[in-house]
Amino acid sequence: MVFIMLLLFCLTACGNAGISEKEEETPNAGVSEPEESESLTQEEEMQNSGTDGSADAEEQEVNMNTKTLVVYFSCTGTTEPLAEYAAESLGADLYEIIPEEPYTEEDLAYYTNGRADKEQNDPSVRPAISGSVENMEVYDTVVLGYPIWHGQAPRIISTFLESYDFSGKTIVPFCTSHSSGIGSSASDLHSLCPDSVKWLDGKRFGGGTSKEEIEGWLRGIGIL
Ligand SMILES: Cc1cc2nc3c(=O)[nH]c(=O)nc-3n(C[C@H](O)[C@H](O)[C@H](O)COP(=O)(O)O)c2cc1C
Repeated sequence: MVFIMLLLFCLTACGNAGISEKEEETPNAGVSEPEESESLTQEEEMQNSGTDGSADAEEQEVNMNTKTLVVYFSCTGTTEPLAEYAAESLGADLYEIIPEEPYTEEDLAYYTNGRADKEQNDPSVRPAISGSVENMEVYDTVVLGYPIWHGQAPRIISTFLESYDFSGKTIVPFCTSHSSGIGSSASDLHSLCPDSVKWLDGKRFGGGTSKEEIEGWLRGIGIL
């Protein structure tokens, strides 16, 4: 009997020792964070993206519906690379305003009363554009680059703005010049478009502006 009781005591003691070992192991097992945090992350991801991925789909739809067109006019190649930088950085389409009658060097010689001087002296002039943007309706933002001609945008920019319906679109003007600021060149264009156009503040750049500077500007105005 004594032996049996001793045996039972031993077995019970060993059994308890086993349980307490497991209990001690349990917290460590709980520290297997990768699994827990993984499942938590998945849960969070599900909440963020929607269990059926619907948020992802919505996001894509928004991105697909947000299209930007970079438009520019450039006679001597200063504005052109800046427009290209903007289009590359924004992943936007690029459109060059090409005059039906190209401007010669003589036309562009300012303060000679040449063609460009005469056009800038007459706000009603609308030089014809060769070609057009076929699907303007798909764009909701238009970045518009031009050179300053006697403090103003060249009259062909007026032709461009009057050629399409920009209702509800955002227009982002920028210009290049020898030394003048953007002045009233952009705000003077507002009356050519419907009131529903949202005009962002324009900016003037010098020749040789870098892509980084253009990106900094686009970021600053919140379109990049
Ligand atoms: C007719 C004409 C008028 C100009 N008027 C000005 C002016 O008022 N202020 C200025 O700083 N630069 C003036 N410029 C210089 C241009 O703005 C500058 O060279 C511009 O960067 C040219 O851009 P583009 O090479 O893309 O055509 C004028 C140029 C021309 C052809």
